[in-house]
Amino acid sequence: MVMNRAIVAPSILGCDHGDLASASLELEKNGADWIHLDVMDGVFVPVLTFGAGVARSISSTVSIPVDAHLMVDRPAELIDAFAKAGCRYITVHPESSETHIHRVLGRIRELGCSPGLALNPATPPEIVQWVAGLIDLVLIMTVNPGYGGQRHISAMHEKITSVRKILDNAGREDVLISVDGGVDSSNAVKLVQAGASVLVSGSYITSSSNRGRAISSLKV
Ligand code: DX5
Ligand code: ZN
Repeated sequence: MVMNRAIVAPSILGCDHGDLASASLELEKNGADWIHLDVMDGVFVPVLTFGAGVARSISSTVSIPVDAHLMVDRPAELIDAFAKAGCRYITVHPESSETHIHRVLGRIRELGCSPGLALNPATPPEIVQWVAGLIDLVLIMTVNPGYGGQRHISAMHEKITSVRKILDNAGREDVLISVDGGVDSSNAVKLVQAGASVLVSGSYITSSSNRGRAISSLKV
């Protein structure tokens, strides 16, 4: 099987929040494939980041896909705004208080975006089987969501492989597996070998003195 190289999606969580559009453009110039937006509502996770207005500024500034990761308690109320803001991928958590996550994924598709399902570390992979026909991406959290710069949970590599098998068995070889949390050059190869095709990386890239070099080190 011919493997494509990993898609590198820098998280802008650690960038200057006063000018996230410029920071995103700089990451694009440094080789980013996508821009990953960590949207936090202060309820699903303790921190509050930004909303659809900031997503719009970013998506109208960069020419690469914008990947919105909604760490919010009530995603159904926000997906229309993030779709209108120009996000290509909109990813939601089944652990949120949204009861009808299946319906939300369908709505994201109706809005013309690619739906993604994000799994917290303790969430079992089997849920993917029941939404496999609706999604374009599964985001596997390798930290507990809420903060950048946390320690990567390598026990999740086994979950990546399980999700890949579930998707392949469902005839969805095309669905991307994205990994988010503590991703750096020391674990990138293992993550891709386990079945990941998108590497989200925050502090490793944004705290580097050479962001271009950090991004290329993840293109494994
Ligand atoms: C965690 C976020 C991640 C995170 C990535 O809540 O979803 O995108 O900020 O940052 P690092 O790579 O520093 O773990
Ligand atoms: Zn994220």
